[in-house]
Amino acid sequence: MKALVLSGGAGTRLRPITHTSAKQLVPVANKPVLFYGLEAIADAGITEVGVIVGDTEGEIREAVGDGSRFGLDVTYLRQDAPLGLAHAVLIAREFLGDDDFVMYLGDNFIVGGITTLVDGFREDRPDAQILLTKVPNPTSFGVAELDVNGMVVALEEKPAEPKSDLALVGVYLFTAAIHEAVRSITPSWRGELEITHAIQWLIDQSHDVRSTTISGYWKDTGNVTDMLEVNRSVLETIEACCEGTVDEHTEIIGRVRIEKGAQITGSRIVGPAIIGASTVISDSYIGPSTSVSEGCRIQDCEVEYSIVLRGASLAGVRRVEASLIGRDVEVTPAPRNPSAHRLVLGDHSKVQISS
Ligand code: TTP
Repeated sequence: MKALVLSGGAGTRLRPITHTSAKQLVPVANKPVLFYGLEAIADAGITEVGVIVGDTEGEIREAVGDGSRFGLDVTYLRQDAPLGLAHAVLIAREFLGDDDFVMYLGDNFIVGGITTLVDGFREDRPDAQILLTKVPNPTSFGVAELDVNGMVVALEEKPAEPKSDLALVGVYLFTAAIHEAVRSITPSWRGELEITHAIQWLIDQSHDVRSTTISGYWKDTGNVTDMLEVNRSVLETIEACCEGTVDEHTEIIGRVRIEKGAQITGSRIVGPAIIGASTVISDSYIGPSTSVSEGCRIQDCEVEYSIVLRGASLAGVRRVEASLIGRDVEVTPAPRNPSAHRLVLGDHSKVQISS
């Protein structure tokens, strides 16, 4: 069995972060979200992995390398444009051969891994197996309609009037039957070859398409709200440790992981939180559910429920909440007089100002 990991895409919902970097590499508890997926694949006993890459190929290659650190053998497959999930299967034809495979969306996060699922598929070998989970807002997802026996009868992409509240999770299991399906469909109104259409094609051709409904935690980290929520849930599981320095005027409460070379002075850190390597925090409050990456500077600030990426610097701002701060970003107070906001924001930035 092989794995196909999708790490291309446009990432429009995570702009401006995705103008300069791959969304699959945004860290959750200071580890790229993609790595959690690769680890789950390795845990399921799969070693041959094709990674679909687009414009951010260089960055993904640099982060993942040949996959050996995950116990994987990674082959990169270039997709010239994000033409859809089924298009990714189409271009991976040669790599996949006639093997069964798991397709894993590189920005999806599943608690509990995929081992049970993969083992079950290896045993039963239906033509395809999809994962579903109940969601409160099915109109934003691919939605499955099941018959009374739980068999999949229809799939719809972001339906205006959903037939169920069961959304497709970003992990799919396929036999080689999917290849004819992806060759048989045509692009949707949004110009993409949709995997939902390919699976619908299998259903229409009387192939055996099964579903498993998971109750565990799943998130598509394609937007900031979900990204922060995944970060919060992973931080809930961390162990406290300190490999940096903390002065006697600092108070550490709850589970806080302080990575190598971090320096904290005169601050109050309330876990769960992670402070990245070589980050310097002074005279600040860092609240729960916050991940600060390596090489950041936070001085005289309050930051809570946020992700701060590598090399960012925040000084004299309070309070920062529910925020995703990009790499090497600088946030400082404006002079009191004249009272004005001074902004240098990249394209598609989003700012909420509380005055
Ligand atoms: P999506 O989040 O559905 O698409 P996107 O990356 O274009 O994001 P947005 O909607 O914000 O513009 O993609 C799911 C995953 O699959 C993600 O990791 C990117 C990847 N992907 C590909 O590799 N190739 C593709 O053609 C598409 C559409 C997505």
